[in-house]
Amino acid sequence: MAKPRIVCVVGTRPEAIKVAPVVQELRRFGDVDTFLVSTGQHREMLTQSLAAFGLKPDEDLGIMQHGQTLAQVTARAIEGLDGILAKHEPQMVLAQGDTTTTFVAALNSFYRQIPFGHLEAGLRTETISNPFPEEFNRRAASLVANLHFPPTQWSADNLLKEGHPADSIFVTGNTGIDAVLQMGSKTESEWFPEWTGRIVLLTTHRRENWGGPQRQIAHAALRLLDDFEDVLLVVPMHKNPAVRETLTGVLGNHPRARLTEPPDYGDFVPLMKRSHLILSDSGGVQEEAPAFGIPVLVLRDTTERPEGCEAGTAKLVGTEENRIYTEAHVLLSNDHAHRMMAQAVSPYGDGKASARIRYIVLQRLGIDSPEVPMWT
Ligand code: UD1
Ligand code: UDP
Repeated sequence: MAKPRIVCVVGTRPEAIKVAPVVQELRRFGDVDTFLVSTGQHREMLTQSLAAFGLKPDEDLGIMQHGQTLAQVTARAIEGLDGILAKHEPQMVLAQGDTTTTFVAALNSFYRQIPFGHLEAGLRTETISNPFPEEFNRRAASLVANLHFPPTQWSADNLLKEGHPADSIFVTGNTGIDAVLQMGSKTESEWFPEWTGRIVLLTTHRRENWGGPQRQIAHAALRLLDDFEDVLLVVPMHKNPAVRETLTGVLGNHPRARLTEPPDYGDFVPLMKRSHLILSDSGGVQEEAPAFGIPVLVLRDTTERPEGCEAGTAKLVGTEENRIYTEAHVLLSNDHAHRMMAQAVSPYGDGKASARIRYIVLQRLGIDSPEVPMWT
């Protein structure tokens, strides 16, 4: 008899990183064939992220084009993925998070009536337009999901409030923690060995921060460089040209600013560990940094990840220059304030989220595999 088939769909860097440990787990256990399918929404960043886990897509739709609109990404991904689902006839489709690829994976599964499992489900902000378009994408994915894997109790409660059945919701922890712990335990690349001072790491890519807000972020960083001569600012730049133009425009000429290509995941994790402070609008980075005790200032007005702010590992500081400058200044000049954040306990997981997801998914397909106690 043919084995059950699972299709895991990824498209962007964070999806690659958060789905990789789930694919590894599914392949380690059970009589099931797991196919990793990439829409190719991101080209370089996806490939390098998967490679860090020794993975590459079994199918790649290669839809990335420079300057494409959201509608164009969506249209190409819907059509391409439909062909893949027709070819593999999976018993289950899995996708993670809130990107256009996630939305398309959910919609296509619904159209073909294939059970859909949503990893990192239940994150919410109050308004559907911020973050744009991610809040819409994740709400849409929840609408059609048969299995929801929220990382925390807060995200599970969001799903329960929306009326999703309790027996379809499993709190697992975030698979991003599985990924970062796996990568952090590997050989470390040595970042800036000649620099004896502190490193401040800055990443920013979100659509709602393009233009004005990103310029303010960059100016705040510039002022910090002027105040603290022992600080080296490292800015791995997202491949998006809209982001690169702003960052190089403001920070490009400063002798203590290093604007770099995005390091692949195996190198980025040691860079996070080497940092004294992180300024970021990334979802993944604010979950990962507390695993190594690095404080994060979140460069956004809203967050779908309030747990870190409540636990004290992260602080939401918006995108206004003075506020960012002031908050970062405190952490760079006051050891006690820095230590309070560094020592706060990460609420995002224990490194076993993928094993929990594997157990539940295989159980739904009628396959026994070792159980892992749920994350509380
Ligand atoms: C996307 C996701 C966002 C996620 C982010 C992670 C959507 C709508 N947005 O945003 O939720 O947080 O990825 O990084 O799904 N590019 C390259 N090479 C790459 C990747 C990107 O050249 O490897 C360039 C291309 O010009 C591409 C552009 O970046 O068109 C933007 O990529 P896109 O997927 O549209 O949006 P992101 O802003 O990356
Ligand atoms: N990351 C990386 N290289 C970089 C910047 C980020 O490997 O130069 C990793 C980071 O550790 C995290 C993920 O990429 O796991 C986050 O991706 P991104 O910030 O693009 O998206 P988000 O998490 O905001 O959706």
